[in-house]
Amino acid sequence: MENIFTVLDSPEDVAAAAAADIAEALRDGARSLVLAGGTTPRRCYELLSQMEVEWARVTILFGDERCVRPDHPDSNYRMAREALLDRVSPATVHRMPAELGPDEGAGVYAHVVASVAPLDVVTLGVGEDGHTASLFPGHPLLQATALVAGIRDSPKPPPQRVTLTLPALRSARRVIILATGAGKADAVALAKRGEVPSGMIAGARWLIDRAAAGK
Ligand code: 6PG
Repeated sequence: MENIFTVLDSPEDVAAAAAADIAEALRDGARSLVLAGGTTPRRCYELLSQMEVEWARVTILFGDERCVRPDHPDSNYRMAREALLDRVSPATVHRMPAELGPDEGAGVYAHVVASVAPLDVVTLGVGEDGHTASLFPGHPLLQATALVAGIRDSPKPPPQRVTLTLPALRSARRVIILATGAGKADAVALAKRGEVPSGMIAGARWLIDRAAAGK
């Protein structure tokens, strides 16, 4: 299954298209939504919070988390809470308890993901090196067979993290990957060739802006 790349004019257009896609999937019966970390999805979450969605039917999960307390400025959960979760009322929010450390955090979350899988909608960001979630190019974690794994040597700080693995991401019903800005152009090109983790999820729908497309 090929990845589908949609190139939009601006980061705002990417955020709006992603929010519309997610809302449509949730209206069409998707029940689980996996949120991405990083900075790119923030605007998408803000727009999504204003859309018509039956949040009481929705279970929220996370694609990766940094091993910090949930109120820490680096926490992916904190970003999602500020941009989306404080504004809507999902049935359940399963944050990754990464403050327990990579191993225990992954162990706890593996049960959560197994109880919800297959995941309906997964959103992901992309790093400048082509990583997604906390799956980094050339890292042994790319061979993981469990659904969730801990990492202690993330090249992007902080080094300790918990992440969904490629098997978890590949088994999702719908994967939406967001990339904006010229800093992501190399990563997008590598992903198109399947050479970096973000390009290893067949059938993913990429929403990128012109700059990330190298145009
Ligand atoms: C994280 C992420 C990571 C992120 C990309 C893009 O916790 O760091 O989930 O995979 O999505 O690094 O980050 P930006 O959107 O900030 O560029």
